[in-house]
Amino acid sequence: MLLIYDEAQTGLGRTGDMFAFEFDGIVPDILTLSKTLGAGLPLAAVVTSVDIADACRERKFSHFTSHTSDPFTAEVGLAVVQTIVSEKLVTQAVEMGRYLEDGLKQLMTRHENIGDIRGRGLLLGMEIVEDRSSREPGNDRMNQLSSYCFKNGLNINRVGGRHAVWRIAPPLTITEAEVDQALNIMDEAFTSIG
Ligand SMILES: Cc1ncc(COP(=O)(O)O)c(C=O)c1O
Repeated sequence: MLLIYDEAQTGLGRTGDMFAFEFDGIVPDILTLSKTLGAGLPLAAVVTSVDIADACRERKFSHFTSHTSDPFTAEVGLAVVQTIVSEKLVTQAVEMGRYLEDGLKQLMTRHENIGDIRGRGLLLGMEIVEDRSSREPGNDRMNQLSSYCFKNGLNINRVGGRHAVWRIAPPLTITEAEVDQALNIMDEAFTSIG
């Protein structure tokens, strides 16, 4: 059986390792990448061994997309990887992730409707609840808080449904001053809305 890691979200530094599988001490047979790899352009990659790639070809596996072998996006992907390495953005994700997580945990000490802070590196989640002991998700509250933040210059990705979670994944290049600015806006939002 092959182990496939989908690192569309976690790949290329975001969790504080170049790849999240490093944290688990595992090397997958197949790795998928997108998002960060293209820096906003439609670029994704499937990374595997020569043996597995050859076996796929022998078994007539085929896959096509509009941008297959597009040299422009490939060049962008290469520049992204080189920049992550040369600007030490994996270390930056560890350091700024810690700074952001500490700031979010500080907010949690002051605002009862924050149910949990979790994640790794610069991929963090803030659970928004109606009540911290029951952990009942605060979907309406999250929407109001998100609108408040947006009006004040902070766009936060919402995960709704069975949970109400802010998915916080800022650029790997974020600065302390930008983190402080974001935390202040969140703080004001919770103070104003609860
Ligand atoms: C975990 C995961 N895998 C795959 C995808 C699909 O990525 P793409 O649309 O860049 O191919 C996404 C997109 O949100 C994702 O979050």
